[in-house]
Amino acid sequence: MNDIRKAFFADLAASVDPVTFARSLGIDPDPWQRDLLLSTDARIILNCARQSGKSTITAVLALHHALNNFEALVLVLSRSLRQSSELFKKITWFYRDLGRPVPSDIENALTLQLVNKSRIVSLPGKEQTVRGFSGVSLLIIDEAAQVSDELYYSVRPMLAVSQGRMILLSTPFGKRGFFFKEWSESPAWKKVKITAEQCPRISTDFLEEERVALGEWWYRQEYECEFSENVDAYFSYEEIRDSISADVKPLFAPDGSLNV
Ligand SMILES: Nc1ncnc2c1ncn2[C@@H]1O[C@H](COP(=O)(O)OP(=O)(O)O)[C@@H](O)[C@H]1O
Ligand SMILES: [Mg+2]
Repeated sequence: MNDIRKAFFADLAASVDPVTFARSLGIDPDPWQRDLLLSTDARIILNCARQSGKSTITAVLALHHALNNFEALVLVLSRSLRQSSELFKKITWFYRDLGRPVPSDIENALTLQLVNKSRIVSLPGKEQTVRGFSGVSLLIIDEAAQVSDELYYSVRPMLAVSQGRMILLSTPFGKRGFFFKEWSESPAWKKVKITAEQCPRISTDFLEEERVALGEWWYRQEYECEFSENVDAYFSYEEIRDSISADVKPLFAPDGSLNV
């Protein structure tokens, strides 16, 4: 095979196979990252340790999706624009590294729009600015445990008509909010948990040092992906859940009168 044909087939392989695509970006995916790239699940939660590579591999997935689909709309959302932009920047760096295989119409700090009409947009963590998008094919929520429930429930309908996919990625942040609720209660999600010990790039020496520096509570959360009781909680989550009873009438009726 001559060099041009080889290059053509190598490009073609990268365009259909996201693992080859990741390698062409210099990233040899860990086994769980590989599974993610090959997964077709519509709802995925990545509960992974800090620095395990969740933002990187989601950025690869997002770019592969936009390059290989027509009119794809990828939204990157987090608790603030600065945080969303971290992941968005990874996407644009990869895109440039590849030599812009599909040319762009718009390429700025918030939007990458390609000539195949696919768009990747970085969004601020504000409900008002986020509403208004529809036909979303991939919704990515980075550091999801820090994103408000209001924002999460306001963006979910964007996927309704398009049957788009959603990926939540985060380390836990206490037993609260939608990230904990979806992880612990909802069967609709593919759930992936990767602790720091499972990450080949994080050394045991570093982790020992972190355990001492952070203390058990933070260490378990940041590196072992445990949903710890909130530090200031007086009752545990399980105690509160088990004490809720449908047999007890609320103290006040809807009109404000005492419910006796
Ligand atoms: N499979 C991989 N091979 C090599 N380096 C990787 C891989 N996955 C992630 N990294 C690197 O690890 C570091 C942390 O990745 P990042 O995606 O920011 O982690 P997280 O979002 O989980 O905190 C980055 O420098 C990234 O380039
Ligand atoms: Mg990250």
